[in-house]
Amino acid sequence: MKITIIGTGYVGLVTGACLAELGNDVFCLDVDQKKIDLLNNGGIPIHEPGLEEVVARNRAAGRIRFSTDVAASVAHGVLQFIAVGTPPDEDGSADLQYVLAAARNIGRHMDGFKVIVDKSTVPVGTADRVAAAIREELSARGGNGEFSVVSNPEFLKEGAAVEDFMRPDRIVIGHDDSPAGQRARDMMKLLYAPFNRNHERTYWMDVRSAEFTKYAANAMLATRISFMNELANLADQVGADIEAVRQGIGSDPRIGYSFLYAGAGYGGSCFPKDVQALERTARQYDRELLILQAVEAVNDRQKRVLGDKVVSRFGGDLSGKHFAVWGLAFKPNTDDMREAPSRVLLQELIERGATVSVYDPVAMAEARRVLELDLGADKMSRIRFAEAPMDTLDGAQALVIVTEWKAFRSPDFEAIKARLVNPVIIDGRNLYEPGLMTQQGIEYHGIGRSILTRK
Ligand code: UDX
Repeated sequence: MKITIIGTGYVGLVTGACLAELGNDVFCLDVDQKKIDLLNNGGIPIHEPGLEEVVARNRAAGRIRFSTDVAASVAHGVLQFIAVGTPPDEDGSADLQYVLAAARNIGRHMDGFKVIVDKSTVPVGTADRVAAAIREELSARGGNGEFSVVSNPEFLKEGAAVEDFMRPDRIVIGHDDSPAGQRARDMMKLLYAPFNRNHERTYWMDVRSAEFTKYAANAMLATRISFMNELANLADQVGADIEAVRQGIGSDPRIGYSFLYAGAGYGGSCFPKDVQALERTARQYDRELLILQAVEAVNDRQKRVLGDKVVSRFGGDLSGKHFAVWGLAFKPNTDDMREAPSRVLLQELIERGATVSVYDPVAMAEARRVLELDLGADKMSRIRFAEAPMDTLDGAQALVIVTEWKAFRSPDFEAIKARLVNPVIIDGRNLYEPGLMTQQGIEYHGIGRSILTRK
């Protein structure tokens, strides 16, 4: 099928590349000429496992191309995916200016039937606004082309996005029941047929329910994480082990194991933004989402938990003290620093006078950029970017782990002990067994695991 993807950000690029991989003819549009040039020269603007190979293969086969030509992009696809950013406004609601600008472009140039697919995460009711924007442009030029807007939210995890796209556990599609809506449904069915061969994975629903589903999923997952973080902090005080508790409750199929890991708080581009946006939507209807307010508050506090542990071990005045930090990205397999807990930790350590050596397997360049904005050039000089994890340790009072990269799972603990000033590990991701750490002579502080470290 002929497909246009508007926006070559994270979601757009993965969607475009994977749809090309399935044999479709994909045209990717972006307003950013530099990004388009990079893509046309074989570059990839984000770090995402497997993406570079998929793009390269399909570019070589002529199934995907990148351009800034709006008229050509509208002419190309019967399916027009809108995958542009919806950054939070000052008040936390999703800013729809890029989505609506994309819609107006379609209305301005379309000629013949189009299915507009909302892929960006957008508040309930956005499809109606997209349709209104297209209609307005159409009528301004006296056109009366037929179209239908469907909602097809993405559930891609950063670091596993290609895999998630190619092996979806569900495909959610919202459409209306008009004749154009039925036609759109048929096209979407054809598009996603390769994923439904063995069993049907598509959930068909009305447009508003599809838009809502995306927020409900992310809000539920964020709730599970904040719930476990809150319990972990209590477990630390009452002397229980949150890991044992996690397994004990996860074995109940009504609860399940996933997304129950206590840690240094959730970050990234989706959970913080979507939780806020859903709260904002509720406020527009004079409702308060009390659970989500708590989820957010608990997460803000949780991002400070590593700093709190450093302070309770080494005191509030950290001047003259040096610390090692492993992991900067908000989670492994990405260089994304958005809302990363490492930013909160580093800010706190630096403000209390410490110096820090940091290491991350892929996020170093992005971290440099973001931390400079957070801290300013002056304070940046207190952060040293190390070439390897072990190179952060010399002269450090403790090692603090923020992101659970695989490479950190089995380090040489003897070498760690030899290089640190004190054999202290503060682990924001519960990577190691506290009992083994004690045997190794390491003072280990996990999240919610103090019963074992006390022995
Ligand atoms: C999320 C959703 O999973 C995805 O479906 C949606 O499309 C976009 O948002 P992503 O933000 O890429 O994906 O990361 P995810 O793996 O979900 O992790 C989000 C955050 O939660 C990370 O900071 C992670 O460290 C944290 N997390 C996750 C926990 O603290 N504990 C857990 O048990 C799971």
